[in-house]
Amino acid sequence: MNFSDEVISWYLQNKRDLPWRNTTDPYIIWLSEIILQQTRVEQGTPYFYRFAENYPTVADFAAATENEILNHWQGLGYYSRGRNMHYTARMVMEEHAGYFPTSYDKLIKLKGIGEYTAAAISSFSANEVRAVVDGNVFRLLSRYFGVSTPINSGKGKKEFVELANQLIDDSQPGIYNQAVMEFGALQCKPVNPLCDSCPLKLNCFAYRNNTINKLPVKIKNPKARTRYFNYFIATEENSILINKRGPNDIWENLHDFPLIETLCQVSQEEVQSSAQFRETFGDKTVILTQYGPIKQLLSHQKIYAQFFVITGLSETSSHENCWQFIDRADLKQLAQPKLIFEFLESFL
Ligand code: ADE
Repeated sequence: MNFSDEVISWYLQNKRDLPWRNTTDPYIIWLSEIILQQTRVEQGTPYFYRFAENYPTVADFAAATENEILNHWQGLGYYSRGRNMHYTARMVMEEHAGYFPTSYDKLIKLKGIGEYTAAAISSFSANEVRAVVDGNVFRLLSRYFGVSTPINSGKGKKEFVELANQLIDDSQPGIYNQAVMEFGALQCKPVNPLCDSCPLKLNCFAYRNNTINKLPVKIKNPKARTRYFNYFIATEENSILINKRGPNDIWENLHDFPLIETLCQVSQEEVQSSAQFRETFGDKTVILTQYGPIKQLLSHQKIYAQFFVITGLSETSSHENCWQFIDRADLKQLAQPKLIFEFLESFL
């Protein structure tokens, strides 16, 4: 058997029963693929159900507010993906009369849909012959064929996409694509791959050359920028002061708290005595307690956040556009960064 037949044969015997595999609806497949780019199957499945049940059609998705979509997206990170989905759903309503496209060429023009997603949706929903190359496929092909070009370089991406398109089974492209991804996820795993039971091992370059742990090759990212966020928690009876974030920084349009960013970690005393604290909150405000720091890793930033509970707040007028007291019971309806959500769950 050749590579593709071997992988498909393995897939038919070993595949997981996943909900998005029982449909050819391009909208439902789109939902699953965007979520699965963000997280693994186990963590992504509850999100998939949440979206598919709340928004069974693209029309339902488009009719929701951006805040509702981001609220359901909460915890997945990379909110721009949720935001792009909302934009795309609206484009599908406006420019495709509510019919989610199934062709690669139309899909690739939609916001948030790149080569991988367009190949996945077009092959799963309409059997278009377009090979998918995700992290699982990079790993499997790199090991089996011994390709050491870095997978996160332009040259590498091109090479792997070409190789994948040579391997795809033209008579069942959808099944082939599911099969290579599943094989990478379950058999040719990143760490401790199941080589002993692998049907491909006799012809696998990495297995034969003992380079399983060296492939695929990835160029290391430059160091993430570290930022220190000092958040202030002001409460009034049952309400809490919330800040809506603006453009040109992470977490656009999400909700957090009034914030002072510093260049390094600072103590409660240092914050309390700083000019910026007084300018922001007035002379009478004092810090009562401190929580944190909590750390959140983003793709290019590392955020350390500490939280200071304050009392005696006298000035909020200069921030009237973005600060607002919100009833605590309504907090759940506001889309928040993961770090804020975790703080609220753990401490308030
Ligand atoms: N990861 C990305 N897409 C997937 C799919 N359709 N099935 C399983 N895992 C995936």
